[in-house]
Amino acid sequence: MTARKPLIAGNWKMFKTGPEAAETASRLKDLVSDVADVDIMVAPPFTAIAVVKELLRDSFVHVGGQDLFWEVEGAYTGQISAPMLKAAGCTHVIIGHSERRQFFEETNDSVNKKVRAALSEDLIPVVCVGESEAERESNLTSAVVQNQLEEGLAGLTSEEAQYLTVAYEPVWAIGTGKTATTEQAQEVHEFIRERLKTTYGNQVANVVRILYGGSVKPNNIGELMAMADIDGALVGGASLDADSFAAIVRF
Ligand code: PGA
Repeated sequence: MTARKPLIAGNWKMFKTGPEAAETASRLKDLVSDVADVDIMVAPPFTAIAVVKELLRDSFVHVGGQDLFWEVEGAYTGQISAPMLKAAGCTHVIIGHSERRQFFEETNDSVNKKVRAALSEDLIPVVCVGESEAERESNLTSAVVQNQLEEGLAGLTSEEAQYLTVAYEPVWAIGTGKTATTEQAQEVHEFIRERLKTTYGNQVANVVRILYGGSVKPNNIGELMAMADIDGALVGGASLDADSFAAIVRF
């Protein structure tokens, strides 16, 4: 069991129009109104952030962005900045999700710029790392994750690093129904915590939450949360339905 307050985060990806998001958010608000011992966050598509934030205003559920651009403002058609997310009521932002890396040319370098942009607006960056199936089969998991952390978080001070959340999401487990075994997940989480310790010291490593992501469901969250270094989950598919997400929150 984690020593840190758990965070259960829902990544709605490119699902839900404004009205659909509003319906899910209001149901979720009712279902988790009595939950105080777990932090909860949902990341709707940009077009639904305002309506979701408005509905969740008097609840404990935080709202986050799924991505951001590192410039504050400018002629960058299609982009959303950290101050825009902040002003829309976001507290968190997901950065470096494997789908962004795979389909939208996200690199460790762009992750680094985005993390800095988020921190400068006091948004909590949820930085995603994880290996592909081929990398795991070639025993490259640690090397890949270490490199994503080193380059993605390059130059951060310990003072800044304490505000990070890291999400370990093995690419082969996202949306596939395959979950890492609890031992596989714990092994990588422990490795990530060791890296944080080496780079930023004990105190930072002890406060940074490391979430697991990849086919998290109501029926596997309990065993994942029983592991010492798993501090919560980043949930995709199962977060789209308020009832299944609430069941995960109540692991
Ligand atoms: P999944 O997605 O729960 O649908 O596997 C997780 C994620 O991509 O964050």
